[in-house]
Amino acid sequence: MDFKSHRSIDRATILGGVSALTLSFAVASAFGQATTLKDAAAAAGLNIGVATNSFNVTNANYAAAVKAQFNTLVCENEMKFQSTEPSRGNFSYNGANTVANFAATNNMKLRGHTFVWHSQSGWASSFNGSRAEMQSIMQTHIAEVGGHFKGKVLEWDVLNEITADGSGNGLRTSFWQQRIGNDYVDSAFVWSQRTDPAAYLYYNDYGADGLNGKSNAIYALTQRLMTDKRPIHGIGLQAHLSRGLNANSIRDNIKRFGDLGIRISLTEIDINNTGTTQDWVGLMNACLANYNCVSFMAWGLADGNSWIGSNCGCLLYSGTANSPTPKTEIINALIQALNNADPAIVAKRKEFAARLPGPNGLLGTTQIHYAQRPVMHQNLIRTSGKVGVSPVFATGSGKATDVLGRKPAQIKGAANSLSLRVLPQ
Ligand code: G3I
Repeated sequence: MDFKSHRSIDRATILGGVSALTLSFAVASAFGQATTLKDAAAAAGLNIGVATNSFNVTNANYAAAVKAQFNTLVCENEMKFQSTEPSRGNFSYNGANTVANFAATNNMKLRGHTFVWHSQSGWASSFNGSRAEMQSIMQTHIAEVGGHFKGKVLEWDVLNEITADGSGNGLRTSFWQQRIGNDYVDSAFVWSQRTDPAAYLYYNDYGADGLNGKSNAIYALTQRLMTDKRPIHGIGLQAHLSRGLNANSIRDNIKRFGDLGIRISLTEIDINNTGTTQDWVGLMNACLANYNCVSFMAWGLADGNSWIGSNCGCLLYSGTANSPTPKTEIINALIQALNNADPAIVAKRKEFAARLPGPNGLLGTTQIHYAQRPVMHQNLIRTSGKVGVSPVFATGSGKATDVLGRKPAQIKGAANSLSLRVLPQ
């Protein structure tokens, strides 16, 4: 049967807030077509969700709307450094636990946002420690917070907004980067992987959604991290966009990361200046055109509570979090786009999204042996000629030695390994 010729049923009921809202759209539930965002997204192999707060999910109106339409949540603020480690060594999970429990109770997935950021990092941002001490602070934070939520978070934003804006697009100057050095990037992934090996590990940034200088820099950094076998599995494109967005450029950007075997999540979607149905559907189709686009997350439920301002017109609901009104035309159109997803790409997405996160960032497709222990100094032995973290052993050479002067053959498990690299401190 040709599904596309049978989309004729015109009414479906979608719960929005406490009231049932009747929607009209050309989707045939009689032919198995989904009538909610979450059902349509699940059929397309996509996670769909919103950023939330603990004080939101305890409101009945809000909870009803979210449960009706979405299958994934992310904390807007409550998993950030300043919330989870308000003072050194003291960890607090009250708000984040409420959200995580709500997600678990309602069979929803959870994104983790975020371990390492230049902003909202509280005391750490003004802590004037040595490289070693700042490394210890970062490592401890990841181990504690990642350990607390181990097994509950599907995708962790290990790093947030680390690429500079403007010309050059190297690493952003931040307190982490200045006090540790550029290899904080590598270390954050390694420590995250050691903490929660089942989580997909992401670097998340804004202004890099389409093809541009910043996304070129992020693409090059991703390649470098993969070459050095760091455990990066995904790039988060925040997608803080505006009316009239360039969907083709976003589609093509997602594709090139797919060619690297990298997951893409659209992590913080809002379309400012009153995003149109065409904008929302264009963005959804840019995602659906690529098998490696696996998550579609709006940065909040209702315009009234957006960080941009209550007049942004930028989310899927108008009104406020506690009194949300669904934008039915946009939601209907998104459901239809999901229902129209190319079955071949959907099948590939489901296979791709099910690949397990591997220690080498390649989603379990290759086996490369790692020595999970620290390098004493990033430039002590340089085998790759790159500035920054260097692998202790050159791939396949067998000639280099580690920091203790040992050859690969002298290290347990290394003798038969084609490529042994010691991960950064
Ligand atoms: O928690 C305090 C509260 O105690 C105090 O009374 C109140 C007074 O203003 O401030 C509260 O903190 C606010 C916090 O949100 C929690 O509500 C901060 O002022 C406010 O600046 C903060 O804004 C958040 C912003 O990140 C911080 O940079 C936004 O809600 C949040 O949407 C935004 O999210 C970021 C992503 O994490 C990363 N990408 C960009 C995105 C938008 O800026």
